[in-house]
Amino acid sequence: MTPQHAHVHELWLENRRGLEGLGIGEPSPRLSWIASTPADAWEVELQRDDGLIEHRLTPSGSTRLVEWPFAPLRSREGGHVRVRAVGADASWSPPLRVEAGLLDPADWVVPFASPSASAPAGELRPGYLLRATWDNGDLGIVPGRIRRARVYSTAHGVYELELNGSPVAADLLSPGWTSYRHRLRTQTYDVTESIREGRNAIGAWLADGWYRGRIGFDGGLWDVYGSDVALLLQLELTLDDDSVVRVPLEDAWSWHPSPITRVGLYEGERYDARLLPAAWSRPEFDDTDWASPTLLPLTGFPARLEPPTGPPVRVIETLRPVSIERIEGGRIRLDFAQNISGKLRIRLRGPAGHTVRLHHAEVLEGGALGVRPLRAAISIDEYACSGDGVEVWSPRFTIHGFRYAELEGWPGDLESVDVEALVVHTDMVRTGWFESSHAGLNRLHENVVWSMRDNFVDLPTDCPQRDERLGWTGDIQVFAPTALRLFAVHGTLSGWLRDVAAEQAEQGHVPNFVPWLDCGFPNFPTAAWGDAAVIVPWELYQHDGDVRILEDQYDSMRAWVDLVHRLTGGTGLWNSGFQLGDWLDPAAPPDNPGESHTDKHLVATAYHVRTARIVADTAALLGRRADEERYRGIAGRALDAFRSEYVSPAGRIVSDTPTSIALSIVFDLFASPEQELRAGERLVELVAQNDYRISTGFVGTPIICDALARVGGIQAAYHLLLQDQLPSWLYQVGMGATTVWERWDSMLPDGTVNPGDMTSFNHYALGAIAGFMHRVVAGLESAAPGGSLLRIAPRPGGGLTHASSSHRGPLGLATSSWRREGDAFLLDVVVPVGATATVELPDGSVIDAVGPGRHAFACTMRAAASDPPRPKMRWRGGPHDGEDSPVGVGAV
Ligand code: BGC
Repeated sequence: MTPQHAHVHELWLENRRGLEGLGIGEPSPRLSWIASTPADAWEVELQRDDGLIEHRLTPSGSTRLVEWPFAPLRSREGGHVRVRAVGADASWSPPLRVEAGLLDPADWVVPFASPSASAPAGELRPGYLLRATWDNGDLGIVPGRIRRARVYSTAHGVYELELNGSPVAADLLSPGWTSYRHRLRTQTYDVTESIREGRNAIGAWLADGWYRGRIGFDGGLWDVYGSDVALLLQLELTLDDDSVVRVPLEDAWSWHPSPITRVGLYEGERYDARLLPAAWSRPEFDDTDWASPTLLPLTGFPARLEPPTGPPVRVIETLRPVSIERIEGGRIRLDFAQNISGKLRIRLRGPAGHTVRLHHAEVLEGGALGVRPLRAAISIDEYACSGDGVEVWSPRFTIHGFRYAELEGWPGDLESVDVEALVVHTDMVRTGWFESSHAGLNRLHENVVWSMRDNFVDLPTDCPQRDERLGWTGDIQVFAPTALRLFAVHGTLSGWLRDVAAEQAEQGHVPNFVPWLDCGFPNFPTAAWGDAAVIVPWELYQHDGDVRILEDQYDSMRAWVDLVHRLTGGTGLWNSGFQLGDWLDPAAPPDNPGESHTDKHLVATAYHVRTARIVADTAALLGRRADEERYRGIAGRALDAFRSEYVSPAGRIVSDTPTSIALSIVFDLFASPEQELRAGERLVELVAQNDYRISTGFVGTPIICDALARVGGIQAAYHLLLQDQLPSWLYQVGMGATTVWERWDSMLPDGTVNPGDMTSFNHYALGAIAGFMHRVVAGLESAAPGGSLLRIAPRPGGGLTHASSSHRGPLGLATSSWRREGDAFLLDVVVPVGATATVELPDGSVIDAVGPGRHAFACTMRAAASDPPRPKMRWRGGPHDGEDSPVGVGAV
């Protein structure tokens, strides 16, 4: 061990990589860091804002979730934390700012300021500007005394702040969407640098967002959470003697209609640049004709004010169009070559009042924008020029799912088109990468990454484009393990789980999407969807190795299992009520996606076994012995019921479908290895009978390849994975998809859009297969919660000559990268500090206890044994052809 060389690469709080330390909700945040080498002990330093510097030695060599070794932070209190290995020359990590937000509801002493306390429903509303000024001199603050300035804020609606004429933050759509009846997130902004001596002004843009306005499908619902939009903002100055002065703004607010003349998250934004009051957020602005807002006391609203657990939504990337063309009728069409969630930024010069309309769509159909799938989310923005030279504009309070855009009324020729697409989503840290010798597979993986990005817009949603964009529980239930491989989303998901628990308590069951909207969808407990309340926390625990998420969600987890147990009448067989089953099985009719050929109640009982077992395991981890026994009992009853109802003694499943069998294998539902073996043979048979085309929906698809791999059907798994005929993952890729589709045939082979009323080109659920690519194809799998033990067991096949997966997990970077050279199989492995790995090579050899660092392994592997040819298939290439197109895959 050489502690003097231990570099700390990354330091973060709790499990919340990517969350900045300013305005956190924990008084004693645990610390985690990634080190280049282990150390016997670590030293943590806190440089407090009052100048005091404290040092603590951590009791062990652990770098994970180290208890906060200092006194708990009070509201507003903070400092800089850094870490180093104990040893003479060890260097400090870069400092991390840690500062508590307002932790106690009683810290909030100002009312909401509302420019619009009510508005008629049924019509899109405008946006509002609010401003307030103050003079430091009037507060007795002489120049040079302000050490820190903080804005603590949130809103009913969505908002952005300006201070003395400049934006306060890059955050978008704050405070994000939570179940506002229960929780409203607050933001903390450091505005020290923008505060001036003497007079200052703060301003807010404010609009409906999720709180007010129309959200949801089937016509949607108006004003779900309230009839007001309002800003809550508390500005505090910390002086050089550490005293805190709250700037008394409550009577200082005034408001004015903003240039946003109407806006809806789904519909788009209309903006008239002539209406922007110049310099409106500067102190010198004359606001005598502005109106006083209504002040709404905080006590009038039920939501708890909470600092966020995850990072905010921001512009993450900017794309330039790959083609710009004038089309019939005069519009200009732009192709950004990538389906995104986001908005356009336009740069133009036009006469005052000249209006440009911006249309958006994911696909083209019949030479026109395919807007039918958007349903009521018409996604049209409108900009009326001020006439004042070059103007730059991007809508603030709307977001669209699109690849193509059309400009209507562009005031210039094609050469003058200066338009970018801004990719907007939660600012997540990327943690997972996959790459292989198969161009189609690589593109599929890229599409999964994009669908995840596009659907993590503050909360995990189903789709980013149509009038839905909801936190569907089933979608994230199946996708969570893959999500955790690709990005650090513990903070985002743990925040969302708080809403799951809150809504579950209110509804008496886990709603099918959270936050729940009563817009007509059946509000009944549903297997695989409601099971998210148990499985998502469990997956977070598996990934991060931290039981706290299980403690936090325990009541919600067991309430779900208790409810299902009651619904089975204590028999364990859940065979009644509403179910979504193996949703979107390709055999289901377009207008009835729940009509899968897999028995819905088999799915329900299988999930009941799985989640009852997880709750029993959770109870064991939390030391709740009596509970453990209770849930083992419930799981046992459900398992008995499942077997007697659905499994023949020889191992056939009554509902003889790939999903039924895959569930039984992956959820360990068989009574004996012989049964599983027989079922496995049947699964391989069914998959082959279907010519290796997909015949599974949301429930079966994420696990079908795992099930095949487990029962000796790895080649069948590859045939399925590399299939390119409809329905298959690579069919979409061959059709030019840049994201994962909701339906296998969202676009039909003739280029028309599936006639179903529910057709998205951007759903992550079926993209859960990327997890298999990492764990099985590349062979990098965690074998213990938190990744302290890795199983590196690549299963080469499908004609692939190379595959690699990297994951920057809680302990640092782990990699499994293999390639084949003739009969040689070569494997490079990276094990992070704090972990060990078991390496299993394709020739059957096993190397145990592989320690941290880089290692190379090799064995002999005969090509023919691992790559039997795939019947009747060929890789068609499509738009991504040309990059190492594996024509004739399988014929190695
Ligand atoms: C959503 C899904 C969801 C499903 C369940 C759809 O409208 O987009 O992804 O899970 O409904 O009914």
